[in-house]
Amino acid sequence: MKKVFIRTFGCQMNIYDSERMLAMLQPDYTPTQEWEEAQLILVNTCSVRAKAEQKVYSLVGRLKHLKRQRPEVIIGITGCVAQQEGENILKRLPHVDLVLGTQAIYRLPQHLKQIEAGHGPIVDIALGDDFTQPLVFPTTTEDLPVKAFVTIMQGCDNFCTYCIVPHTRGREISRPPEDILKEVEYLVSKGVREIILLGQNVNSYGRKEKRFPSFAELLRQVACIPGVWRVRFTTSHPKDLTEELMQTLAEIPEVCEYLHLPVQSGSNRILRLMNRGYTREDYLSKVKRLRQLCPDITLSTDIIVGFPGETEEDFQATLDLLEDVRYAEIFSFKYSDRPLARAKNFPSKVAEDVKTCRLAQVHKLQSRITREINESFIGQTVEVLVEGKSPKDKTLWTGRTRSHHVVNFIGPEGLKGHLVYVLIERAGQHSLRGQFKDLIR
Ligand code: SAH
Ligand code: SF4
Ligand code: F3S
Repeated sequence: MKKVFIRTFGCQMNIYDSERMLAMLQPDYTPTQEWEEAQLILVNTCSVRAKAEQKVYSLVGRLKHLKRQRPEVIIGITGCVAQQEGENILKRLPHVDLVLGTQAIYRLPQHLKQIEAGHGPIVDIALGDDFTQPLVFPTTTEDLPVKAFVTIMQGCDNFCTYCIVPHTRGREISRPPEDILKEVEYLVSKGVREIILLGQNVNSYGRKEKRFPSFAELLRQVACIPGVWRVRFTTSHPKDLTEELMQTLAEIPEVCEYLHLPVQSGSNRILRLMNRGYTREDYLSKVKRLRQLCPDITLSTDIIVGFPGETEEDFQATLDLLEDVRYAEIFSFKYSDRPLARAKNFPSKVAEDVKTCRLAQVHKLQSRITREINESFIGQTVEVLVEGKSPKDKTLWTGRTRSHHVVNFIGPEGLKGHLVYVLIERAGQHSLRGQFKDLIR
C-alpha cells in the first residue's frame, strides 16, 4: 500500500481541497503523518501574502535532498502558488514532479498515473469559467469529525486592489445546489453535526445562475436536512450582505449567531483605494441592523494595516472602528505586495517598522476587547457542540459555543458529538473554561 503525505497552507478552502485530494487518491494511497515514509508528497499552497508563499518555497526546497536519495518519490505542488507560478515552479524547484492549480486538483489521479508511467513532470493550471467541481466524498470507515467544510462557491470577482485570490481562484463559480445538498447529506450520515459553508464570497452564491437559489435560500435548504444541528458560513463580503440574509441568519435556529465580516480598514479613503465597495458608514449601519435583528450576534473580522498611503489618521479610524464594533475575534495582517494585485503599483508604501508598530497596536486593543467579551461569559450557561477531548489536556472536553468561542470543560465520558450545556467558570484570552451541566441531545 502506497502512502501520501500532505501539507496544507492557507485558508479553510485549502483544507477542504486537501481532504478531496486524499479522498480521490483512495484506495491507492493512504495518508501518513510522516513524510519520510511517503511515496507521494503534496504541498497545498497559499499565496495570499508574500510570507505564505515563502514558506512554500522553503519547505519544498528542503525536499530536494529527499528526492536525491529516493528519486521515485513524487512531489506535487498544488493550490494557489501553483496556480500563480505554473511552469516557474519547475524552474525554481526542478525536483518537483507535478504542479496543479486550484481547479486542476481534481485531475490529480490521472496526472499521477502519467507520472508513474514516466511521463512527468506535469503542469496543469487550467482555470476556466465552465468548471464544475466534481462530487468527491471523503472515504473513511471511521466516523468523521463533528464539523465539516463544504465549498459552495469558489473564485472571486471583486478584485480588491491588494488581493491575489481572484487570480488564483478565478471567477466566481457556484456549485449546483443539488451537489451541495448531497454532500451535506453524506457528511451527516457519517456523524457530522456542524456544516461550515465555504466560499471567497458566499453571499454572492448563485448570482450568475438563474436556476440556483439565493444564498439565504440555500442556507434554509441546508439547515432543513435532518441531522444538521448547526450551520455556519464564511466569508461574507459586507457590500453583499443583504437584508434577506440578515433576516435568515436571525430566523433559522440551526444557523449560528456568528458572522465573519471582514472590514479591512476603518478609513473611507483607504476602503476606496482598496476597492471594497462600501464606506465605513455602510458597514456600521449593517452591523447595527444585524444587532437589531439578532441581538446575540458575535462578529469577527479581518484587518489590514499599512495599506499603501495609510496615514496615522487612517489607522486611527481603524482603531476607532474596532472600539465601536467590539469584535469577539479579529485576524490582522500587515499589507503585503502581491503580484497581479493593483496595489502593488500604488505609491506611498508604508515602511515595515510602521506596519509592525500598527499591528502591535491593533493586537493590544483587540486583546483587551476579546478579554472583556470572554469575561462576560463567566456565570452563563452556554450551548456547546462537543468536538472531542482537548488536545492539550485529555481530562477536558472541548467544543465551541454558537458564538464560535472555544470552551474546555470537565464532564462525564461519551460526550463527543453531543450538544450540551456548560456553565462557564473562567475566561482566558483564547478559550473559556467550565463545568458540564446537562445533555441537550
Ligand atoms: N474572501 C475573503 C478573504 C480573502 S483572504 C474576503 O473577502 O474577506 C483573507 C484575508 O487576507 C483578507 O480578508 C485580508 O484581510 C487578507 N489579505 C488579503 N490580501 C492581503 C495582502 N496582500 N496583504 C495583507 N493581507 C491580505
Ligand atoms: Fe480577495 Fe477581496 Fe475577493 Fe476577498 S473579496 S477574495 S479580499 S478580492
Ligand atoms: Fe490562500 Fe488561496 Fe486561500 S491564496 S487564503 S489558499 S484562496
